[in-house]
Amino acid sequence: MSLFVAQDLVKRFGGLVATDRVSLSVEPGEVHALIGPNGAGKSTLVNLISGLLPADGGSIVLDGVELTAMSAHDRVRHGLSRCFQITSVFRGDSVRDNLLLAVQAHSGSSFRCFRRRSTEAGLRERALELAHKVGLEDMLDRVAGTLPHGVQRKLDVALALAARPKLLLLDEPMAGMGPEDSQQMVELIARLRAEAAILLIEHDMDAVFQLADRISVLDYGKVLASGDTAYIREHPEVQAVYLGTEELR
Ligand SMILES: Nc1ncnc2c1ncn2[C@@H]1O[C@H](COP(=O)(O)OP(=O)(O)OP(=O)(O)O)[C@@H](O)[C@H]1O
Ligand SMILES: [Mg+2]
Repeated sequence: MSLFVAQDLVKRFGGLVATDRVSLSVEPGEVHALIGPNGAGKSTLVNLISGLLPADGGSIVLDGVELTAMSAHDRVRHGLSRCFQITSVFRGDSVRDNLLLAVQAHSGSSFRCFRRRSTEAGLRERALELAHKVGLEDMLDRVAGTLPHGVQRKLDVALALAARPKLLLLDEPMAGMGPEDSQQMVELIARLRAEAAILLIEHDMDAVFQLADRISVLDYGKVLASGDTAYIREHPEVQAVYLGTEELR
């Protein structure tokens, strides 16, 4: 059974059908990339999945639970976390405090007793664990807003992981990065697949083809093609969409 299934999702903006009966699935441990030209509907689809926008039709199921009518917040509680294109880091706070806040926010029923020493120690331990996962253990005392862009994006990923997601939505995690930071982010995402399935929107085709198990191509709000990297690379209609660009070569 697929971990995540979106079925016949529809979103209209006035006369424009931005999402036109889109169906896609993500398997456990899979990196599923979503690509397509500007305006194809990638961000709209991610907004429908995360609950930022209400859908006009269709359904979303994660790990057997129907999320379609849930708020964005409840979707996070059920295992769907998202990193934002615009970072959600508190810039004036330290890396440690950013992590602690995120861990606290997702500590659920233990919130009531979080003043107890043992629980607070647990939160600190979890924050440290998250820092290790993304390679920020040496930066805990740094003020988040003063860190280089690539490091802030790692922190953003760690904040999303605080919710212990089953499915992680990554919206252009390499945006604005140079080659070195991009490669580090590729390596980080490759490691993350061990703990969450990933739906990755990314314009950096090198990264997409390195990471993706499957790729779905959106065009004018529809899924044009969906398959493994070799299938997508050779797909005539996909090639036509990317004609004149170097991206698929
Ligand atoms: N809030 C909105 N109101 C009206 N139209 C919208 C809105 N959001 C998106 N659109 C339109 O829906 C279509 C899909 O936009 P979307 O932002 O999802 O594309 P995208 O694939 O993410 O593009 P990009 O690669 O540039 O980020 C576009 O034609 C866009 O103009
Ligand atoms: Mg977009």
